[in-house]
Amino acid sequence: MILQGKNIYINYNKKEVIKDVSIDVRKGEIVAIIGPNGSGKSTILKTLSRTLKPNKGQILLEGNNIKAMNTKAIAQKLAILPQVRSVPGDISVEALVSYGRYPHLGFGHRLHKQDFEIIDWAIEKTDLTQLRHRFVDTLSGGERQRAWIAMALAQNPSILLLDEPTTFLDISYQLETLELIKELNEKLGLTIVMVLHDLNQAVRYSHKIYALNKGKVHCFGESNSFLNEEFLKDVFRIEGDIVEDQANKCHYLIPQKVVQEAKP
Ligand SMILES: Nc1ncnc2c1ncn2[C@@H]1O[C@H](COP(=O)(O)OP(=O)(O)OP(=O)(O)O)[C@@H](O)[C@H]1O
Ligand SMILES: [Mg+2]
Repeated sequence: MILQGKNIYINYNKKEVIKDVSIDVRKGEIVAIIGPNGSGKSTILKTLSRTLKPNKGQILLEGNNIKAMNTKAIAQKLAILPQVRSVPGDISVEALVSYGRYPHLGFGHRLHKQDFEIIDWAIEKTDLTQLRHRFVDTLSGGERQRAWIAMALAQNPSILLLDEPTTFLDISYQLETLELIKELNEKLGLTIVMVLHDLNQAVRYSHKIYALNKGKVHCFGESNSFLNEEFLKDVFRIEGDIVEDQANKCHYLIPQKVVQEAKP
């Protein structure tokens, strides 16, 4: 197991928002985390990257407790694209992407030929070549999103944690981003943990899904047979049709209506 969260509890101001969550991520796997707004997805992703310290429980990265690891060692292995991203105004795309190299730089923090090659590769992969000299705060939401993904790629991690990587993107860039994630997984062996809202994208682009609800793991399992009526009602309060996609060998959802929770 490359990354493990074991019996994690997290409180914000004494309110328990994560309750006994355990997540296992195998090397080379794409894991999707789904769940309603406020169910704890971002919180758990931040905890897996040590951005947030759990009140109880452990995170193991390649079997080592991340509590005892230094920040640079973690950043060489794991990159996170957070849900809320703030950039200083006057920074170019290229400069933002080059920040991804920082965990790898030695004394003096100088970028070398190999660093520039990785930066170029990340910019190319995310289709930002035309925009590399633009200031990030002049980009559209989708362009900015790609710049953040490029920065995470430049970090050259073995594990990529992505919090809603497709928000702000139009449908073709959503597909391109997910295809890129799949390619990074298949060709470079990157392990991916990503939070997605689109259930069909989660099914199609991950191997395993964890569904969170009210701070707990409601269920987890293989993606292609994950969706069922009871789950959709219990976790998302919706009814819909589940249809088979024979070409991709998985089941998709056509949402139909919201079912209100029974009032006590
Ligand atoms: N800094 C904070 N202080 C207090 N409460 C917080 C804080 N961050 C998150 N929470 C609360 O923790 C719960 C889980 O939040 P989290 O951001 O993990 O949800 P999420 O599943 O990512 O939701 P979304 O789909 O809206 O992004 C929510 O009830 C949220 O209000
Ligand atoms: Mg979130």
